[in-house]
Amino acid sequence: MKLLLDCADMAEIKEAYGIFPLDGVTTNPSILARTGRPPYEVLGEIRDFIGSEAELHVQVVSEDAAGMIKEADRIGDELGSSTYVKIPVTSEGLRAMKKLHKDGVRITGTAVYTAMQAFLAAKAGASYVAPYVNRIDNLGSDGIVTARNIQTILTQNDCHAEILAASFKNAQQVLALCTCGIGAATLAPSVLKSLVQLDAVTMAVKTFRTDFETLCGQGRDMSNI
Ligand code: E4P
Repeated sequence: MKLLLDCADMAEIKEAYGIFPLDGVTTNPSILARTGRPPYEVLGEIRDFIGSEAELHVQVVSEDAAGMIKEADRIGDELGSSTYVKIPVTSEGLRAMKKLHKDGVRITGTAVYTAMQAFLAAKAGASYVAPYVNRIDNLGSDGIVTARNIQTILTQNDCHAEILAASFKNAQQVLALCTCGIGAATLAPSVLKSLVQLDAVTMAVKTFRTDFETLCGQGRDMSNI
């Protein structure tokens, strides 16, 4: 499973990249709005930092296919043709996906709340489909079950699309999807950090250090004994 960072804040991206084995960055218009900066300036910095090989997912804002296609062209020009263009899976989104797929554009079908949306996006040429796990939960449905159903549908129908699960709020949701081998998950920095922020682990590491220093002296470790 690939692991991506759902973020456009350069400081947070650099911090997360320094720690975690990440495969790329995803953004959406709300995430970009939180930076308060010109979108292409921020996205250009992200692209330069993660490199041309890493995945970068950038969402269109238009609600009609013609506008989405125009945005996709500009995104490719500004950030490179390897950039994934995120297109909401609406009727107009599907219309745009079919055209963009023919033109070789990499597409992520986003705003996926149902398995049927995912299936249609995959058929229209999306490389990824992005179910919003926590937002689905918030609607009283089950985001994990929806993502698992999508995984089954993609496999059963020989679709080439993979899942890019999004909108996580806790480590349990991430774990639940790791176990069924989905293609990728994108996490906000806070959720990513929570994967290793366990009191029990912190305590265990502290105890190891204390025990060792009792044996060898304060400030001693395996490099200086
Ligand atoms: C990613 O594709 C989505 O835009 C994002 O993960 C939504 O997350 P949120 O529900 O935390 O806003």
